[in-house]
Amino acid sequence: MNHRMRFLMRRRILQTALTAGGLAAAGPVQRAFAGLPETPMQTMGPFYPITRPLEDDADLTLLKGHAERAQGKVVHLMGRVLDTNGDPVRNAKIELWQANAHGRYAHPADVNPAPLDPNFQGFGIQTTDAEGQYRFKTIKPAAYAIGPMNPDAVRPPHIHFDVYGANTRLVTQMYFPGEPENDGDIIFKYLNATEQAAATATVLPGGGDAEPDSITLRWDIVLLAG
Ligand SMILES: [Fe+2]
Repeated sequence: MNHRMRFLMRRRILQTALTAGGLAAAGPVQRAFAGLPETPMQTMGPFYPITRPLEDDADLTLLKGHAERAQGKVVHLMGRVLDTNGDPVRNAKIELWQANAHGRYAHPADVNPAPLDPNFQGFGIQTTDAEGQYRFKTIKPAAYAIGPMNPDAVRPPHIHFDVYGANTRLVTQMYFPGEPENDGDIIFKYLNATEQAAATATVLPGGGDAEPDSITLRWDIVLLAG
């Protein structure tokens, strides 16, 4: 069933419910269709890569021709791009960028004195499959001080996303659960509880061929109009 057919079927079910139940049913029926909370829009920040790395594949931990992997804890990140009805958004383009294991971006505007990691890709692109699924292998970024303009502020570990769905573009950020810097973060703290939950990944059990010290995270991205 294609998107248009699903839309028409939902509208017909809604109309039938309203006709059968009268206007009093409008509230509950509409809430039932509201479905998943939208992933909150958040700032792109100043460090979207000006110069793209030579690679933009799904494995940010290993660059072609390099003998060493990126430093830091390996993160297997997976999830789905969905609309608020829970339907998958196929062929959504996901761009991801982040600081390295020292909290430094490969960007000329980042004045953090922490070292660059020449083995870290720092940026990747994936397209969702027919089920809306995506997957990246990366490293856990460190928290970092924002810098001279706001010397007391520390950003928690986070990953930036720019997602292009069929009808919706979403710039946002993903957080790691249980990080001590989350609650005081200058962005995260202004999200309400539902938005914070939607912006935070869930830890999954590892296993399979995952590295022993790696973590596996799930994070679904919900686009308002798919
Ligand atoms: Fe950032």
